[in-house]
Amino acid sequence: MADLSRKPDSPSPPGTEPLPKVSYPEFLRGQPAIVTGANSGIGEAVAIGLARAGCDVAVNYVTHPETAEDVAHKIEGYGRKAMVVKADVSKEDEVETMFKTVIGQFGTLHVSVSNAGLQKDSAFLEMTLAEWETVIGINLTGQFLCQRAAAREFLRRGVVEDISVAAGKMICMSSVHQTIPWAGHVNYASSKGGIKLLMESMAQELAPHRIRVNGIAPGAIRTPINTAAWNTKEAYSELMTLVPYKRIGEPDDIAQAAAWLASDHADYVTGTTLFVDGGMTLYPGFAQGG
Ligand code: BGC
Repeated sequence: MADLSRKPDSPSPPGTEPLPKVSYPEFLRGQPAIVTGANSGIGEAVAIGLARAGCDVAVNYVTHPETAEDVAHKIEGYGRKAMVVKADVSKEDEVETMFKTVIGQFGTLHVSVSNAGLQKDSAFLEMTLAEWETVIGINLTGQFLCQRAAAREFLRRGVVEDISVAAGKMICMSSVHQTIPWAGHVNYASSKGGIKLLMESMAQELAPHRIRVNGIAPGAIRTPINTAAWNTKEAYSELMTLVPYKRIGEPDDIAQAAAWLASDHADYVTGTTLFVDGGMTLYPGFAQGG
């Protein structure tokens, strides 16, 4: 259960975010996981959530190693193994080396969360090719490279019955902007639209091998990527006009979804995007209009 004591329309000042209150079943025990972009925001929460659910976790980062170390210590605090591993997910050689290192250290992998992503916002007419390519490279090509490396390991190893009924679980972090067009963010929205069909096509291709592939589409979550959308009272009220559930999402809301999707509790779920968005995709303008 979410913490309902929060006042829906008052932002918590940064640093005083509510602690996760929801427990995790340990349904991922013995299942090593990798989470890309795991040193902040949603990636950090997912890495910690998977650890709480039983995984040893590889924490990928590209800058700020100290924050990755921090996340690793939190994971160890839950009694799991953690490793930090640097790689730019848009670079094939770095991704290949990362997966080799992680598989070498953990023995294998059962869960792969391709989460690393960023925004480089610009009006369409002003957007540079570099802004386009950076976002597509990290958000979309990065997911292709990481999930391809993960799938190869899942296939090599196959199902280990005592551990999971699936040979591996892939989760692709998307966004409500895989369906909601977003002026001023065409690179980001295109990358997320691409992730939707990347995820669905991988799911179709890999299902016969008992590899499950799903996406999560977060709405507005309290993370550094969108601070300007929630860190003042005015911005928060404005944001709430887009959120029928009338609270911002917390990173742990996404982590809970990831842990469930990775577990055998979701064994018949593949090729699906789980929207975790407080109703942002419900056309809130139509609550009164139309
Ligand atoms: C974006 C955020 C935005 C949210 C809802 C996310 O994918 O990264 O900046 O607040 O979508 O629009």
